[in-house]
Amino acid sequence: MDISNMTGKAALVTGAASGIGRETALALARRGADLAICDINQKALTEVAKEIEATGRKVIQRRVDVAKAEDMAAFAEAVHAEVAAVDVLVNNAGVGLGGGFLHTGLEDWNWVVGINLWGVVYGCHYFLPPMVERGSGHVVNIASAAGLVATEALCAYSTTKFAVVGLSESLRDELANYGIGVTAVCPGIINTPITQSSRMVGPMATDDNRAEIVSAYQRRNYGPERVAANILKAIEKNRAVAPVSPEAWWMYYMKRFFPGSMGRLVHTLSARERRRRGL
Ligand SMILES: NC(=O)c1ccc[n+]([C@@H]2O[C@H](COP(=O)([O-])OP(=O)(O)OC[C@H]3O[C@@H](n4cnc5c(N)ncnc54)[C@H](O)[C@@H]3O)[C@@H](O)[C@H]2O)c1
Repeated sequence: MDISNMTGKAALVTGAASGIGRETALALARRGADLAICDINQKALTEVAKEIEATGRKVIQRRVDVAKAEDMAAFAEAVHAEVAAVDVLVNNAGVGLGGGFLHTGLEDWNWVVGINLWGVVYGCHYFLPPMVERGSGHVVNIASAAGLVATEALCAYSTTKFAVVGLSESLRDELANYGIGVTAVCPGIINTPITQSSRMVGPMATDDNRAEIVSAYQRRNYGPERVAANILKAIEKNRAVAPVSPEAWWMYYMKRFFPGSMGRLVHTLSARERRRRGL
């Protein structure tokens, strides 16, 4: 898709009130696209809608819980009352969950799978059919480097992100028949508020641990606007998988070409972490 001038095109971004979603919505607006945005955080979403309007683009905004089919159905109805089909669909809304399997309760599983996986399934279910009918467009699913390499520390989160990578790969195969591209984005360590809102379970659920993670992400200081710029590039080049930061690229290549070494390295680092926590 030519993204140099998106005037007359419509893009949809879920979880657009913050971080990667916000920056992606703004980047698409700056290229000329009109936007449909949703988030569970209505107040912050309205601020982003104002920023989009300031670029001269039209915006539809709605409070939506992406884990609820009825919310996504109502959002789709509102969007399709304005445009026959969106051109770019960005399934971005997501949450973090730190902890191993033995400490992750079923309510935590429901929460993270509901948002990170069902949210993407609902996005595709409600917005893809009109795109298919028209025969053009691009789907971007925000996965994670944790969707390429799984560790003890992110068991449920990784499970959802591996699923998003798999769903994207399957969709890409199917939708190529209808002129629609699909990209799974694997950002890496990105400095966004996700570190504050993520749930932590088991030994990871301490104030010190959260402070450590927030500080590590801040020190890494890789901003969400750089992810947004990579998302635009990935749409233009119709990339299947788009690792973003250098560590995401490193994990991508290591897993592909040296899976055994990667597995051993992950286990060594996890064992060191366990010792550090006295487990
Ligand atoms: N920040 C990172 O290091 C990183 C790395 C890899 C992948 N990701 C993924 O990128 C995506 C965006 O994360 P971010 O880092 O920008 O985080 P963020 O917290 O800044 O933004 C996430 C947005 O999703 C919204 N959201 C949460 N639950 C929702 C729900 N049920 N319905 C609708 N909206 C909901 C939040 O309100 C927030 O505005 C997520 O899918 C995340 O897993 C982030």
